[in-house]
Amino acid sequence: MTISVRAVEPADLPVVTRILAASWGGVTVVALGRGDLVDASELPGFLAADEGGEVAGVITYAERGGFVEVVTIDAVLPGKGVGRALMDAVRDRAIELGASGLRLVTTNDNTRALRFYQRYGFDLIALHRHGVDAARRLKPSIPAESDGIPIRHELELELLLPARG
Ligand SMILES: CC(C)(COP(=O)(O)OP(=O)(O)OC[C@H]1O[C@@H](n2cnc3c(N)ncnc32)[C@H](O)[C@@H]1OP(=O)(O)O)[C@@H](O)C(=O)NCCC(=O)NCCS
Repeated sequence: MTISVRAVEPADLPVVTRILAASWGGVTVVALGRGDLVDASELPGFLAADEGGEVAGVITYAERGGFVEVVTIDAVLPGKGVGRALMDAVRDRAIELGASGLRLVTTNDNTRALRFYQRYGFDLIALHRHGVDAARRLKPSIPAESDGIPIRHELELELLLPARG
């Protein structure tokens, strides 16, 4: 599948909202590890499209403490290279911004994402045991389990970028 990626524009709000809502039950996500709610549809991001111009995925990010934090990443059709293409776009943006690296947080149940991130080059830097309890107080709709795995813990990952010379 040939995937094209471009920066999200204001006119993309309906499609971004649709993808975020399908994945996360709304545009509001818990900025994991930060203890507050974020409207991901207001963040900068990139949209992926397939050969036919159909939207294939979206990634949103925020600059924080010299790092670029990936706040959401969603491939409409997983396993077709969309996630990689979106992550490449944010990595290139982070290099442009002079960031030290990329950071993100996922949850213990999300084995697909954990596999994807580690194959991409991210390394685990922290485990926040029961971090999802605090997130669930802010967003009670976070499910209790996924695929039979209780959703409890936050895992923080980092991809360092080469220092600019
Ligand atoms: C996690 C997620 C973003 C990964 O995105 P993805 O598009 O599935 O990732 P990719 O397709 O780039 O890579 C996954 C696999 O597909 C393979 N792949 C890449 N291009 C491919 C293609 N053209 N055809 C088939 N498979 C392909 C990759 O090689 C990779 O497999 P490998 O690890 O064995 O090499 C996606 O699974 C997703 O949206 N999940 C739901 C939302 C979510 O959990 N987000 C993360 C929250 S923390």
